[in-house]
Amino acid sequence: MNEPSQVAVVGFGVMGRYHANVYAALPGVSLRAVVEPDTARRRAAAELYGCATYTDVAAMLRAEHLDAVSLASPTSTHYPLASRLLDAGLHVLVEKPVATRVSEARALAAQSRTLGLVMQVGHITRFYKTVQQLRQEVRRPYLIEARRLTPNARIRDVGVILDLMIHDIDIVLGLVASPVAQVAVAGHALNGTPFEDVAAAQIIFSNGCIARFLASRVAPDTERSLVVAEAERTFRLDFAREPHTEMAIYQPRPSDDDGNHVHVDRHVVFEGNPLRKELEHFLARIRLSATPIGTLEDDLRALTLATDLTERLAPLGAATVAAPAG
Ligand SMILES: NC(=O)c1ccc[n+]([C@@H]2O[C@H](COP(=O)([O-])OP(=O)(O)OC[C@H]3O[C@@H](n4cnc5c(N)ncnc54)[C@H](O)[C@@H]3O)[C@@H](O)[C@H]2O)c1
Repeated sequence: MNEPSQVAVVGFGVMGRYHANVYAALPGVSLRAVVEPDTARRRAAAELYGCATYTDVAAMLRAEHLDAVSLASPTSTHYPLASRLLDAGLHVLVEKPVATRVSEARALAAQSRTLGLVMQVGHITRFYKTVQQLRQEVRRPYLIEARRLTPNARIRDVGVILDLMIHDIDIVLGLVASPVAQVAVAGHALNGTPFEDVAAAQIIFSNGCIARFLASRVAPDTERSLVVAEAERTFRLDFAREPHTEMAIYQPRPSDDDGNHVHVDRHVVFEGNPLRKELEHFLARIRLSATPIGTLEDDLRALTLATDLTERLAPLGAATVAAPAG
């Protein structure tokens, strides 16, 4: 019989709670500890899961013998904390984005490889059934439009490109097998912060495909949609109806009368719990060396494009059109 995996969650905010909930319910897993500087949140974790709690990672590492950790602290803390956890010999699931700089992400990827440890980045959309279906079915898209809007400006240590748009960047890079040829980006920050709250970007790939992105965390309503057009058909996904995704597939059909019909196939797909699938996959990679769904190279490509767009935004508000960096 396999021993249960001994796991911990670092950062018990919105996302860390979800991770802890999943681990607490997974068979073959023992949630040993939560690290969280906030006293009330530590108390809540101890009450909910009966696990040990610590104010910092160093204290947890001194006291616990663990196999794996979910790192769900603010993005600006990912690099030093992930490096520390890997150094301690732990497999690490780092929430997205893996770090704020590409150089840091590369250093973590190299560190995990050298130490023979799994480091997985929490790109949760890779575990949506509908995104997996798109990756199977889409052949040669010529236009992609992704909108990810929310009234929730909770995350304050990175801009909306690294916070939200990176999900769509990751999906799009998984659908278009061509290098990025040109990028354009515009956006702005509210209240004089250094981090953009709204951003619009356009990416043109070498094969001619155009991808347009809009991300906002100061929108009046929530919207999360993706349109992928190819010559034969167009896919439209609405992710804002969790736990369901609505998928419509449009195809032109010749009609008996005077013109073309559009045939629409609509599906409502129950996504289940994609975070549970993500964490099960992480544990399967540790135990069974399962083939990764999304590699560290994929993570680096998404982060490279996201940070390139972010850097081009300065001075905020100006639109720039240029070839991608590097
Ligand atoms: N995959 C997704 O869909 C998704 C969704 C939301 C957030 N995230 C990511 O998850 C991470 C956390 O986001 P959140 O929304 O949960 O933020 P949050 O602010 O709700 O939670 C972060 C928690 O980390 C704690 N913390 C701060 N410094 C710490 C440290 N040094 N050690 C341990 N804990 C520390 C904070 O006190 C807070 O409780 C971010 O990287 C974010 O991008 C991912």
